[in-house]
Amino acid sequence: MKARELRRKYIDFFVGKGHQEINSAPVVPENDPTCLFTTAGMHPLVPYLSGENHPSGKRLVDCQKCIRTGDIDEVGDAVHLTFFEMLGNWSLGDYFKAEAIEYSFEFLTSPEWLDIPLDKLAVTVFEGDEDAPFDREAYDIWRQLGIPASRIAKRNKKDNWWGPAGQTGPCGPDTEMFYWTGAGEAPEVFEPENELWVEIWNDVFMQYHKQADGSYIPLAQKNVDTGMGLERVTAILQGKSSCYDTELFLPLFAKLDEIRGLAPPPERTASERIIADHVRAAVFISADGIAPGNVDQAYVLRRLLRRTIREANKIGLGETFLVQLAQVIIAGYQDMYPELVTNSARIREEFEHEEKQFATTLAKGTREFEKLIAAVPAELRKKIISGKKAFFLYETYGFPLELTEEMAAEHGFEVDREGFAKAYRQHQERSRQGAEQKFKGGLADASEQTANLHTATHLLQQALRRVLGDHIQQRGSNITAERLRFDFSHDEKISPETLNEVERLVNEIIERKLPVVCREMTVEEAQNDGAIGLFGDRYGDRVKVYSIGDFSKEICGGPHAANTGDLGRFKIKKEESSSRGVRRIKAVLIK
Ligand code: ALA
Repeated sequence: MKARELRRKYIDFFVGKGHQEINSAPVVPENDPTCLFTTAGMHPLVPYLSGENHPSGKRLVDCQKCIRTGDIDEVGDAVHLTFFEMLGNWSLGDYFKAEAIEYSFEFLTSPEWLDIPLDKLAVTVFEGDEDAPFDREAYDIWRQLGIPASRIAKRNKKDNWWGPAGQTGPCGPDTEMFYWTGAGEAPEVFEPENELWVEIWNDVFMQYHKQADGSYIPLAQKNVDTGMGLERVTAILQGKSSCYDTELFLPLFAKLDEIRGLAPPPERTASERIIADHVRAAVFISADGIAPGNVDQAYVLRRLLRRTIREANKIGLGETFLVQLAQVIIAGYQDMYPELVTNSARIREEFEHEEKQFATTLAKGTREFEKLIAAVPAELRKKIISGKKAFFLYETYGFPLELTEEMAAEHGFEVDREGFAKAYRQHQERSRQGAEQKFKGGLADASEQTANLHTATHLLQQALRRVLGDHIQQRGSNITAERLRFDFSHDEKISPETLNEVERLVNEIIERKLPVVCREMTVEEAQNDGAIGLFGDRYGDRVKVYSIGDFSKEICGGPHAANTGDLGRFKIKKEESSSRGVRRIKAVLIK
């Protein structure tokens, strides 16, 4: 049975039992500050599980897009996935344990539905502890349905309790269903530790609410929340030992082979699986409106993409493969998730951008990383990379901390995480102070020439980003009526040819006589609008964003020229090192 058919059957079955089909919510929770991603089907339904009325009624069924990043380092084996789809049915204060278990049983075993032989099934139930008693009710229902006692295991809270999704919320005991994937008959006695028994479905009985103080109070409304992993069950029903061997991934692997001009290998490598998993997750995150960046979901997206690129380098995939793989995902899922199609142009653009940006810094960053390792004399090796050095790679090369950690681990090193966090905080403090200085400087002198040099600085920054890459970030700026001085992140001397190119680009924009437009907006709007600049809290909530035609968009206190045509000719006078990883350019405007 293909995944598509399983999805349809599941939904049809529950619609037949009086459930209303609802659409998947986005992978980025809309109203939940406690979680970065939707991790289970119940997650978007938390308000309704807590008692609010759902507009579609008390019985719901859906296929929810989920992201789990907790096991991201395990991805590459046969089972772990970052993105997955969860089939689920809910009772919001309607039916409870008896119907929930009977429905699960019927769907799994009925010849009309999945037709799984009874002797391939086993279940677990909650054994009870100080918070809640043994779930005898669930146990007895399974027995009545024909599951032998030897195939029912009693487990503790670690295994048979679900939720809450955040720190607090609805939760309760659950009962999990397992399928025997071994060859031949299943053992008579069910031992969940035996990996040939694979969990396929989980029915959660939400009857408690976990409080902030860790206590559990009974919920007035008793709910059922169930979850079946689509990929895993698809693989099982096809007799495959890995979801990577199903039609959900095969087209991606075929694309990998096509790009490399190789015949399909007998088995996929960890790198290939990581690439397939991460691209799929990245497409879905991106389709829900996230762009790669340095915080929260944006950081996860960047990390997924950059790790993909690194794995791709390992297997010789060459450049510009991301978009090709993304297109395979979009084609495969488009009828189920139309948001992939409506956002495909943006996904393409952002993936291309990230790929380009990272390619320019990866090689340099890797060299720098190797220097760091080599600089530690062998006999002194505590096998630790300091937080400062990890932060340097982060700041200058855009290496997510986890990437440095992975590369470090390959050399038997560890990264000092706390030191990294400290270096990060110090950096934020320095930028804040620097920004305050600059802000004062800008206001003190609003002469026409100073304004022109401010505008030239924006042009310079953007030109540097175009020519050298988006790792270029402002590290400081000082403007007098005579000249500009601009410090930015970049690790090596810039050749005269490159400087000429930057200078030429700035002068080209000047000659295009582009208007300089100032708009006020909130920091969030500025960020969403793609403005660069220091997003500290220094300006308060609203900031000024200066746009120069379609060339540059930057947060700044001003003042600025009204049109680039006012600037005169831009000339770079000097390029030098300012500090480690930071270069400095001095430039003038000649009338
Ligand atoms: N919320 C339950 C799970 O994710 C069904 O397993």
